[in-house]
Amino acid sequence: MRREILFGCLLLMFGSLSIALGAFVGINIGTDLLNLPSPEQVVAILRSHQIAHVRLFDADNHLLSALSETEIEVMISVTNEEVLGIGQSPAAAAAWINKNVAAFVPSTNITAIAVGSEVLSTIPHAAPVLVPAMKNLHKSLVSSNLNSQVKVSTPLSMDLIPKPFPPSAATFNSSWDSIISGVLDFLKSTDSFFMLNAYPYFGYVQSSGIFPIEYALFQPLSPVKQIVDPNTLFHYDSMFDAMVDATYNSISAYNLSVIPILVTETGWPWAGGANEQDATVENAETFNNNLIKRVLNGSGPPSQPAIPMNTYIYELFNEDKKPGPLSEKSYGVYFSNGSSVYTFSLDTSGGATANASGGFCVAKKGSDTSSLQDGLNWACGPGQANCSAIQSGQPCYMPDTIENHASYAYNDYYQKMRSVGGTCDFGGTAMITTVDPSNGSCIFTGSTNSSIGGTLTPAFGPEGPPGNASPGQLPDIVVLLLATLVLLIV
Ligand SMILES: *[C@@H]1O[C@H](CO)[C@@H](O)[C@H](O)[C@H]1NC(C)=O
Ligand SMILES: *[C@@H]1O[C@H](CO)[C@@H](O)[C@H](O)[C@H]1NC(C)=O
Ligand SMILES: *[C@@H]1O[C@H](CO)[C@@H](O)[C@H](O)[C@H]1NC(C)=O
Ligand SMILES: *[C@@H]1O[C@H](CO)[C@@H](O)[C@H](O)[C@H]1NC(C)=O
Ligand SMILES: *[C@@H]1O[C@H](CO)[C@@H](O)[C@H](O)[C@H]1NC(C)=O
Ligand SMILES: *[C@@H]1O[C@H](CO)[C@@H](O)[C@H](O)[C@H]1NC(C)=O
Ligand SMILES: *[C@@H]1O[C@H](CO)[C@@H](O)[C@H](O)[C@H]1NC(C)=O
Ligand SMILES: *[C@@H]1O[C@H](CO)[C@@H](O)[C@H](O)[C@H]1NC(C)=O
Ligand SMILES: *[C@@H]1O[C@H](CO)[C@@H](O)[C@H](O)[C@H]1NC(C)=O
Repeated sequence: MRREILFGCLLLMFGSLSIALGAFVGINIGTDLLNLPSPEQVVAILRSHQIAHVRLFDADNHLLSALSETEIEVMISVTNEEVLGIGQSPAAAAAWINKNVAAFVPSTNITAIAVGSEVLSTIPHAAPVLVPAMKNLHKSLVSSNLNSQVKVSTPLSMDLIPKPFPPSAATFNSSWDSIISGVLDFLKSTDSFFMLNAYPYFGYVQSSGIFPIEYALFQPLSPVKQIVDPNTLFHYDSMFDAMVDATYNSISAYNLSVIPILVTETGWPWAGGANEQDATVENAETFNNNLIKRVLNGSGPPSQPAIPMNTYIYELFNEDKKPGPLSEKSYGVYFSNGSSVYTFSLDTSGGATANASGGFCVAKKGSDTSSLQDGLNWACGPGQANCSAIQSGQPCYMPDTIENHASYAYNDYYQKMRSVGGTCDFGGTAMITTVDPSNGSCIFTGSTNSSIGGTLTPAFGPEGPPGNASPGQLPDIVVLLLATLVLLIV
């Protein structure tokens, strides 16, 4: 949760389209909404949009179960309410680890634990137990032999850095010196990372016009508006880069070697009240899409160019039940029905291409009808195949059999997703063939006679879409995912 803070802020950036291996953008999943989809539906939405890294604000066991066997990397959280107890009791920490981590790995890929959320800013009375809580959790992980796989850290807010610009002169608020020193020592000794919540939205809004909005939105700055750190002469193309650098610099005052920063939250609200005029769909769309390009470019901020700025966007859904101004409820990139609030894609490669040099993917003859139906539903739903050609009256509707329709849908999915890891499996009901299945005006995707139209959202990073259906959760969500597909196409 973002804080409504503070400061007068900072600087920077833009990006190229190349995706560096290792850099990633994930998403926060807040659950304070009226029509919260079921855990299975949430996971289907994540998979349909190729989201491969998520952060939860708690350790909801149902969601952790639904995330098992998905390859989605998961950060879980100790809530602020739990920090005191865990800080005061190693036994409580061990119980927490057993219940929420040991019970789920390795099938759920839990890789980090965020201890509290901006503890120093939101529950300062718990500050003295913050480091003990982190240590207690870490010791329990060591006992379970999970410490190399699961890192412990704590998300801190930019409001701990009263003057973030220029970055080279930024320092943490000295009131928190001893606590922050303890946190950094812990992170260093456990080879963990510094978790930072950084919102250029607040930096911009609170700077009262000192910085141009282009700077907050990762847009190009005119030559007369370049933002330069007078001490280092680094040019800052975005406030986001400057915030991360301000934090690196604040950490450096503690004379430890570099601790990598992971941005656990950033985002931009797309709606706001009368006095929140910068919270617009256009700004949110610009911010998030440019952020993705910037992060996936793989370079770090000017002072640490070799350390990617891995980032979790805040957040998956609009949390309409949250208190506070309208903007607080309007950070979601998807509605709870799964449709996007605005054009949003974690991909920057410009759309997948299809070609059949790897063969066509068709339904296996003699496959069980209900398995084919599940596969068909999956392909046309979460799989985002273009199934318009198999609708009644369209070129591939005849012969009107499930096998024919499944072949068309499987192949459309496969041609578009193969390059990013999509497989021709569909629960064992699909097979590869080199024979072009096109028939008359029914042209299969990838056929040399077809022109591939449309873009879809291919995977970023190593995880591809699933190769086979997980039928159990499908029927309920196919409709909403089709809706998502429509919106993505528009
Ligand atoms: C990535 O973006 C940074 C900041 O804009 C830029 O300096 C750098 O050249 C870009 N790197 C690549 C590989 O495009
Ligand atoms: C979990 O995620 C990490 C980091 O991406 C990866 O290296 C590891 O292979 C994943 N583990 C499993 C079981 O998928
Ligand atoms: C530093 O933190 C203390 C304690 O939260 C707060 O009272 C003080 O105003 C902060 N100083 C600045 C400059 O923000
Ligand atoms: C870091 O090193 C500088 C220079 O040696 C010293 O002045 C400063 O007190 C040190 N800071 C800490 C937190 O140890
Ligand atoms: C076609 O797909 C193959 C295998 O995925 C790939 O190696 C090849 O570059 C693609 N060709 C075109 C023109 O996209
Ligand atoms: C091709 O389409 C025609 C007309 O719909 C149909 O009768 C025929 O069976 C189809 N051939 C194949 C191989 O599917
Ligand atoms: C592709 O187009 C050529 C020329 O128009 C035609 O002869 C051929 O039969 C077509 N192939 C398929 C699979 O439709
Ligand atoms: C889906 O396929 C139809 C033809 O079957 C085509 O007209 C339409 O443009 C395609 N839509 C997308 C998004 O590719
Ligand atoms: C999804 O929900 C949003 C907000 O309630 C609504 O505007 C949109 O039309 C819905 N989309 C679909 C396909 O139902």
